[in-house]
Amino acid sequence: MQLSDKKATLSFSDGSPSVEFPVYKGTVGPEVIDIRKLYGSTGMFTYDPGFMATASCESAITYIDGDQGKLMYRGYPIEQLAQNCNFLDVCYLILNGELPDEKQKTDFDWLVTHHTMVQEQMQTFLHGFRRDAHPMAILTGLVGAMSAFYHDSTDITNPEHRRISAIRLIAKMPTLVAMAHKYTLGQPLMYPRNDLSYTGNFLRMMFGTPCDDYQVNEVVERALDRIFILHAEHEQNASTSTVRLCGSSGTNPFAAIASGVACLWGPAHGGANEACLNMLEELQANGGVEKVGEFMEKVKDKNSGVRLMGFGHRVYKNYDPRAKLMQETCKEVLAALGLENDPLFKLAMELERIALEDPYFVERKLYPNVDFYSGIVQRAIGIPTPLFTAIFALARTVGWISQWDEMISDPGYKIGRPRQLYTGETERNI
Ligand code: CMC
Repeated sequence: MQLSDKKATLSFSDGSPSVEFPVYKGTVGPEVIDIRKLYGSTGMFTYDPGFMATASCESAITYIDGDQGKLMYRGYPIEQLAQNCNFLDVCYLILNGELPDEKQKTDFDWLVTHHTMVQEQMQTFLHGFRRDAHPMAILTGLVGAMSAFYHDSTDITNPEHRRISAIRLIAKMPTLVAMAHKYTLGQPLMYPRNDLSYTGNFLRMMFGTPCDDYQVNEVVERALDRIFILHAEHEQNASTSTVRLCGSSGTNPFAAIASGVACLWGPAHGGANEACLNMLEELQANGGVEKVGEFMEKVKDKNSGVRLMGFGHRVYKNYDPRAKLMQETCKEVLAALGLENDPLFKLAMELERIALEDPYFVERKLYPNVDFYSGIVQRAIGIPTPLFTAIFALARTVGWISQWDEMISDPGYKIGRPRQLYTGETERNI
């Protein structure tokens, strides 16, 4: 963080003395006004519900230019990473700041692969859930429970503990998601296999059974790996901010990540992929492309409570670059699986076409986000709709844990503690 030459001055209409604040520059992006001394010097707080204009931390992991529709992990554009790397390379990059060289890659892949198995006792814990529990309910519980099963890596002041808990989380998330899936189906749980890739192993744990050999389909493997890359990290979004806030109390990393999983579940955030697919299916069942115009009228009517799921974003005021890549992947997967005429894909393309020409969406700068096409790809692969957000959580785990580690490694970090504008009763007697 570098001081800018300029300062910000806050003046008041009632003649109170004005106050000066330092301004800092990042490497790229908007400058920030440092208001930490505001309360001490004026007795006032700032008011910014929803954090519309508040930088909650300093971070060197991800940069988004929402106006241009650009996303970079550690400085590398998402398009280049999606084209040239696999998910574990991207995990290494997000965690460590640089892409791995040949040896680092081999070592990291080995380390993650050899941490994919989970403590056997976790199966007993899993069996406490109802069979029809939502996978995100199971995942929130399982990730939180990791703090009980892996309490030998919960000393957050020890960098080695932090490193190993990060590896455990990245490695075990696919196993936990597949466990939740198999439990719902009532099929035997599949143990991980060390001769498969991270994504191939996940596919086998999801779709294999002990009765048959499972052959990983390379197109499906590559598509799912790309989904993981596109969801890996997204700076201070709601779930990441939740992980940071939860972790700022000094709680262990598994508890902090469980809070991120819980936050991601909501339909305004990661739950949008499930909500988007449900929306497309419902629309398809009620007239499909023919009824798009009618549906769009509902979306634009504020009283209907209907939103076009998979559209709009707090930061992107342009096409979400992840949505572009996801649309490409969608086409590739559908073609490879002989599903070129998938009616939901056609419907999604038509919704997008109409929305991008409609003044309601144009004026509000609402574009497709990552969730608009991801559900169609996942459905084509065979992933059940309620599991979509769990896939997002699996991929985002590396982002959450890297952001958490960045915070804990900073010697100046403080517990997060926002203030409020109190509008309740003044003091009164019973
Ligand atoms: N459909 C219809 N209208 C919308 C939509 C939408 N999907 N998104 C925003 N708007 C309207 C909204 O009604 C408001 O209009 P007005 O200014 O007239 O009141 C305006 O656009 C601004 O919306 P907002 O809700 O104030 O914006 P926000 O930054 O608080 O919310 C959002 C961002 C993503 C929650 C919102 O766009 C949304 O609910 N989208 C649908 C859910 C979704 O797809 N979420 C996934 C986000 S990307 C994946 C992730 O990172 O989690």
